[in-house]
Amino acid sequence: MREIIFATGNEGKMREIRDILKGLTLGGEPVAVHSMKEAGIDVPIKEDGKSFAENARIKARAVAAASQKAIVLADDSGLEIDALNKEPGIYSARYLGEDTSYHEKNNNLLTRLALVPDEKRTARFVCAIACVLPDGRCFTQEATIEGRIGYEEKGENGFGYDPIFMVPDYGRSTAELSEEEKNRISHRGKALRAVRERLEELSL
Ligand code: IMP
Repeated sequence: MREIIFATGNEGKMREIRDILKGLTLGGEPVAVHSMKEAGIDVPIKEDGKSFAENARIKARAVAAASQKAIVLADDSGLEIDALNKEPGIYSARYLGEDTSYHEKNNNLLTRLALVPDEKRTARFVCAIACVLPDGRCFTQEATIEGRIGYEEKGENGFGYDPIFMVPDYGRSTAELSEEEKNRISHRGKALRAVRERLEELSL
């Protein structure tokens, strides 16, 4: 049995990654996917990188250093709004302070965009996933979902900035999509599926 540790404490992310890595075998062996907590790892991580990819690598390397012979994955993600110079970007979780509700964060962004016309409200969610292999090799995979910032919060599903992120092809916000619909098109879903393909191509 091979082990993959995902460097997160977020249960929603664990559900998604377990679903996408279901049935993965490496070198003919089945793979067990564990969270940091399940793997008994608790290391302080300082996310002081300058990009999503750099932050994902920092997290993955810190957890890999504390694990034994596991494959370690870590992700970093956020929202880039073009009219705001790609804010909140890598500071998405910390925007207006970690403890500020997303209702407040979302409404603050809507206010800042009040005079911005539809065609200039383009935005994307970005996800970078870093993978550290047992021999120390590391690769990073990035993916995005393009959309536009709406005019009010819509929908109850998802989390974070989902209620203001409109997906043009669906005419709905990502908070109005089911978990399954969102995973199919989301930045994290796309990046995770690409990581799975890369792991399957490696001889481990
Ligand atoms: P992370 O867990 O450090 O990657 O933090 C990413 C932050 O970006 C989250 O706290 C959210 O604010 C935002 N974010 C990333 N992905 C999504 C998404 O799929 N929907 C809504 N917000 C997201």
